[in-house]
Order: sequence, then C-alpha cells, then structure tokens
Amino acid sequence: MLNMKKRLILTHHIPLEIDTEMREMFDIEIVEFNELMRREVIDAHGLITILSDDLSAAHLDKFSCLEVIAQYAVGTNNIDLDECKKREITVCHTPDVLTQATADLAFALLLSLARKIPEAQKFAQQGKWSGWNANHFLGKSLEGAKLGIIGLGSIGSCFARMCQQIYQMDIVYYNGRPSKFAPSLNAVECDLEQLCQQSDIISLHAPLNHSTKNLLHKKHFDLMKTDALLINTARGEIIDQDALTETLKQGKLLGVGLDVTTPEPLPKEHELYRFPRVLVTPHIGSAQKETRENMAWLCWRNAQEVLEGRAPITAVALS
Ligand code: DGY
Repeated sequence: MLNMKKRLILTHHIPLEIDTEMREMFDIEIVEFNELMRREVIDAHGLITILSDDLSAAHLDKFSCLEVIAQYAVGTNNIDLDECKKREITVCHTPDVLTQATADLAFALLLSLARKIPEAQKFAQQGKWSGWNANHFLGKSLEGAKLGIIGLGSIGSCFARMCQQIYQMDIVYYNGRPSKFAPSLNAVECDLEQLCQQSDIISLHAPLNHSTKNLLHKKHFDLMKTDALLINTARGEIIDQDALTETLKQGKLLGVGLDVTTPEPLPKEHELYRFPRVLVTPHIGSAQKETRENMAWLCWRNAQEVLEGRAPITAVALS
C-alpha cells in the first residue's frame, strides 16, 4: 500500500515528545539543518526550524512540496518571508509563550549590570575578597530611572511593566509607529535620537528586519549618557557592534548586557568579552524548561493544523 502520510522534518531536538499518535499522523524525521541541506531534493511538507536555520530563497529551492515552516522562536529573520509568500508556504512562530521568560532575562541582565554582579563574582573567585569594603562594587540605583524601550511590543512592554512596577520608571519608546501597549504604561513615543539622549536604561525588543538592521549606530552611541545601561535581548544585528565596541573603548556606558550578538556564537577571542562591564549570555532569552516545552508544543500544533488543512494558531503575517 502507498504511504500517503505527509512528512514533517524537525531540524533540532526540541523538547517535544513524539508519540505513536503523532507518528500515525505524519512521517516524522529529525535531521540537523546543515545535514538536511546536503540533500538534493527535500520532500518535506512541514518543517520545524530554529533561528539559526538559513531559509533563504536558495535553500527554499530544495523543497519540493513544503507547505509550512513552524519556527521554534518568535523572531523569523532567518526566513525569507517574501519567498515563502510567493511559494505559498505558511510561516508560523511562537509569540506570547516566551514573552515573560525573555522579559525576565532582560531584567536579570539589567540588575546584574546595575549591581556589578559579574565583576563582583570574578573578584571573589580570584581570591581578591579580603574583607568588607564600603567602596567596593557600588552599583547604580534604578529607582525613578528613565527607561527607553526600542520596540514596544509584547516583550518590550512586559519588561517595561516590570521596571515601572518595581522602580517607578518613566518610559519613552521608539517603535516606528504608536504602540498599543503605550497608554497603560504612560509611555511617551519619541524619535530614536531623543530616546538615546534621555534614557538611563535602553532596552532593545524590536524584530530584526530591513528597517531595524544597524538601527543603533555611532550617532546614537554618541548621544547616550555616559552612565547609561544598554540591554539587547532581541537580535545582535540591530546594533552596529563595531560602533558599540568603540564607544566602550572610549569609557562610555556603565554596562552593556547582550543576550544576542553578531555573529552567534560570538567567538571566544572577541574583544567584547574583555570589557568587565559587558555581560554576554548565549542567546538564552526563552531558555526556561516550561517555556521551551510550550514553544515546542505550539510548533507541533501549528504544523499539524496546516498539514491537516486548517489555519495555524500563530501564523506570521506575510505582507
Ligand atoms: C526568539 O524567540 O526569537 C528568541 O530569540 C529565541 O529564544
């Protein structure tokens, strides 16, 4: 008898228990992306991808019958959405389920930098802790600080709300257009230059696309306060990283927290690691067990819905 099942390929071992029922519905295979790209023709109907999989036109050409890409992330900058639209491939992602986890990480980076935790830990580990000292590792108070949010969407507003509720921060934002989250936060829209000039803390939460690539460059770093804190949990390419490095060399910025960099992984010899006031984490914004399980389940459900001819739960709008 002919095997009429559709084929679903996962490019990564995500926390999804693939049970018998799922295997009865589809032919399911787990193949790492680079390995998959070695195939000449890929007969998958569904693909569950991660953010490092390069789904540009040349790679999409390899697929003979692809109907759906279910991305295991909220960001989809690794996928050529215009090409998917042309090819009638539905693209889905995992918004909402990772909002709090990512906002938490931004908050953790902010507190770590404001209280100099990485530097203090290194000091203790290196055996330099010889007694209590009234002048060691004096942090910066966050009470009443002005917070500049770049990208006031779900994650940006979640982070802003935490900062406002705990530290009564005033919020300004740059979003390219008014944000529906602004009124409940009393957040004031401004241009990027004003945001950089005024803010004590700047946190990036925008998606990476043509209009946000290198959005923050030298001109903006020059405008920032000398003791500003900068946090990026969105995408590395939104920042001109060389300009950031130059700014740090000039002694500017009190702390920089980067969960995302260019490239990823950031090579261990990269000069950004040499600044004690720069905290780099390896893209762990959504790295919570429950969050990752929810993301995996949402990917599966999105793929299943499309492969069975229904609308997905969280599609990406292909304009
Ligand atoms: C996302 O979802 O886009 C995050 O960067 C991955 O955790």
